[in-house]
Amino acid sequence: MADPAHDLEFTHKYALDRDCTTLSRHVLQQLHSFSTDAQDLSALMNRIALAAKLVARRLNRSGLVEDALGFTGRTNVQGEEVKRMDVYANQVFISAFEQSGLVCRLASEEMENPYYIPENCPIGRYTLLYDPIDGSSNVDINLNVGSIFAIRRQEGEDLDGTAADLLQNGHQQIAAGYVLYGPTTMLVYSIGQGVHAFTLDPSLGEFILSSENIQVPAHGPVYSVNEGNFWQWDDSIRDYIRYVHRHEGYTARYSGALVGDFHRILFQGGVFVYPGTVKNPEGKLRLLYESAPLAFLMEQAGGRASTGTQDIMDVIPDRIHTRTPLVIGSQDDVALVESFIQERTREQDVMLKHP
Ligand code: AHG
Ligand code: MN
Ligand code: MN
Repeated sequence: MADPAHDLEFTHKYALDRDCTTLSRHVLQQLHSFSTDAQDLSALMNRIALAAKLVARRLNRSGLVEDALGFTGRTNVQGEEVKRMDVYANQVFISAFEQSGLVCRLASEEMENPYYIPENCPIGRYTLLYDPIDGSSNVDINLNVGSIFAIRRQEGEDLDGTAADLLQNGHQQIAAGYVLYGPTTMLVYSIGQGVHAFTLDPSLGEFILSSENIQVPAHGPVYSVNEGNFWQWDDSIRDYIRYVHRHEGYTARYSGALVGDFHRILFQGGVFVYPGTVKNPEGKLRLLYESAPLAFLMEQAGGRASTGTQDIMDVIPDRIHTRTPLVIGSQDDVALVESFIQERTREQDVMLKHP
């Protein structure tokens, strides 16, 4: 005979476990604890999710509302033209965190110096580092963009306001992730226990778990690089590109937004490469807001991230806006790119010894 109590229990469990693992519940489950640290991390992720929902909402209506698209006419500290959406998203993260009592500072690609939480607001122990809109050239043409974030604990007092404690390697990150504003809005994060993806269910207004413990394949077909920079690269990177052109099984994908290209590689394997160029010898991507958070995720997913000669996670920046070359993705594909760099370095060493 049917047991109504059992049926009810089954339905309840099914609905919660199958459909409704929310982000905050997931963070607490991962930490197996309700300690202050666990509660803080869960609250931090909730605030990031709130900012993501606000940015997604504006992007969804960007062709319909005033002042959403186009440039502001200003350039940022990197010398790049600032888009209205960059300014909006930058401010959204500040607003989401200002009254939270969770952070003491926010450091963003769009701000020359970190934003310090004012003294009349509760001040927390963490720093949020973020790229508010990644791939902003895609905004005006309705293609995918992202946000990238990392959380670090403040070390020391930062009394002189120089944020010198942020100039440490990627192992200091306690959480990292990104939001992908695509056909659906997804939030992918890690607190050092695997990589997990959530999809925004607009009817619930909640990020719901959609892929847990994502593992990147050891090799994939995709190489993701702006080949328009070929003339600006070192010979080693040109050698690599010639190699993939001459071998079967490779396919090029490049969207102009790192988050989108990274997301494809995380799920399907391959490699994203942004090397140094004549114009930018250190490449274009910023260590603290782009390369290090994504390196944290890629390593957690079983992949690798390298400058070509050093693990990204080991790089210590000399400024908060430091850039690095980036080679990130499947183990074998990152190793292949590195092998061409090593080969050219060996040749140069021989030339120096035996001119
Ligand atoms: P951002 O929009 O935050 O400045 O980042 C753009 C980055 C990255 O998303 C992308 O992979 C890369 O710049 C594209 O640069 P190129 O146009 O030089 O290929
Ligand atoms: Mn970016
Ligand atoms: Mn940006």
